[in-house]
Parts: sequence; C-alpha cells; structure tokens
Amino acid sequence: MPVLEVADVHKTYTLGKTEIHALKGVSFAVSPGDFLSIVGPSGCGKTTLLNIIGAIDQPTLGEVRIDGEPLSGLSDNDEADMRLARMGFIFQAFNLIPVLNILENVEFPLILAGVKPRERRERARELIEAVDLTDYGTHKPDELSGGQRQRVAIARALVNDPELVIADEPTANLDSETGGMILALMQRLNVEQRVSFIFSTHDPDIMRYAKRIVRLKDGLVAGVDEQEPAATADGAEPGGPASGVGKPGSPGGRP
Ligand SMILES: Nc1ncnc2c1ncn2[C@@H]1O[C@H](COP(=O)(O)OP(=O)(O)O)[C@@H](O)[C@H]1O
Ligand SMILES: [Mg+2]
Repeated sequence: MPVLEVADVHKTYTLGKTEIHALKGVSFAVSPGDFLSIVGPSGCGKTTLLNIIGAIDQPTLGEVRIDGEPLSGLSDNDEADMRLARMGFIFQAFNLIPVLNILENVEFPLILAGVKPRERRERARELIEAVDLTDYGTHKPDELSGGQRQRVAIARALVNDPELVIADEPTANLDSETGGMILALMQRLNVEQRVSFIFSTHDPDIMRYAKRIVRLKDGLVAGVDEQEPAATADGAEPGGPASGVGKPGSPGGRP
C-alpha cells in the first residue's frame, strides 16, 4: 500500500475578488522507501502541495490519504497526532528555536508527543550523531553554519521515527556543495532507515538525487519520471527501486 496518496487535489486561494488556482487536480502516490522530488518553477504550487500533504493546509477539492486514511474528516487534534506520529517536516528556513540548544531543538517534537525526558534525550542524541553533529549538542543554532542548521532540522524531522519526511526546498538557502551534502544525508537515511522522502526543489542539480520526479506546472502534474538517482559525495549507495530491501549504508559519511 502507498504511504501517501494525493488524489485530485485542488487548491483555490481567494484574494478579494480574485481567485488563484494554485493546484488544479494533482494526483500521485508515494510508496514505502520512495525518494521523490516535486519540481517546477517558483509559483507552480510546490509549497501549497506540501502544506496540504502535511495537513498544514486543506485542499479545496480532492483528498490526501496517509496509509489509506484520509486526512480530511479528522479533527484538528487527530490531524496533529497523525502528523506527529507519521511525518517529519523540514522547511526551507530551518525553523529552529533560537533560545534552545541543538539537543533541545531535536527533542522538541518528543516533548509535544509526551515522551519521557530520559528517553527523549537519548533519542535526540542518537539523531544528532546520525547527522554528524555529536559535538554540537549544547550549541545554539546561531553558532552553526547553514548546512549544520539544516542537518539539525533533518535530525528533528526524524526524531519521532516517521515513515515519511516532507521537505520544502530544503537546500534553497544553501550553496550548491552544502545542498549536495544535505541530499547525501537524506539519501543515506532513505537507504539505511527506510524513511520515505518527498522534497521540492527547482534546482536541476538537486533533483538528480531523486528516484522519482513529479513535475508540476501551473498547478498540474506535467509528468512523472523514474530515474537512476545520482550517487552523492557521501559515498552512500543511492537506493534501488522503491520496493527494494534496505541495505546497510557505508559507515562514517561526513556531510
Ligand atoms: N496564502 C496564499 N494566498 C494567496 N495566494 C497564494 C497563497 N499561497 C500561495 N499562493 C499562490 O499560489 C501559487 C502557488 O504558490 P506556491 O505553492 O507558493 O508555489 P511554489 O512553492 O512552487 O513557489 C502562486 O501563484 C502563489 O502566488
Ligand atoms: Mg515554495
């Protein structure tokens, strides 16, 4: 069964007397282990689509299903619980909490989920190690580089063991080398931990890493392509087909 189904999703924004049709009937599915990129020029509807998938926004028409369960019809609380339990989010602008240190930032979703202090501290440490920031736990976000901050955001997105991580232009504020390293890390986590990723980008250099590409144009799917994902500088082998068995990755990648 797909982890995620987007079924004929429309979104119309009304600004005074003007209607903006941001999405005009978008459909696709994401399988477990997928590494899918939503690509298209600025204004084509990427953020609108990812916000609807994350239940941050509602479609005007159509439906999103997570593990077969429609997002619509759930109360706000259920939606919040579902998001916390099954999805992780990575945003373009990092969205770290400046007054909290790195460990506390990564722990934060577990506080909301009511996980006990010792357990959540341990889990946060594991994730910080997984993104190669072991020595930075007590630092504040403003003491880190852009690439390091985005790694913290990835650790935070993964801390409650989601099956699906949604990333809206995760490399948009990074130089291309750092962006490549962030994709290498996501690829490694996709292969080693079998987390499905959906990330948007308008950067051809970044979309090379995807297993599948959904091309958005003016609020419609203009095409879906499968491709052999580019290998990354990380040395982790890019995943095979979405249905393949996860294999252990190379140790000690240093994005
Ligand atoms: N909150 C909003 N209110 C009105 N129009 C919006 C809003 N958010 C996005 N739009 C419009 O919807 C279209 C798609 O925007 P967006 O999803 O942000 O595209 P992308 O992320 O691909 O740049 C654009 O025309 C944008 O101006
Ligand atoms: Mg956007």
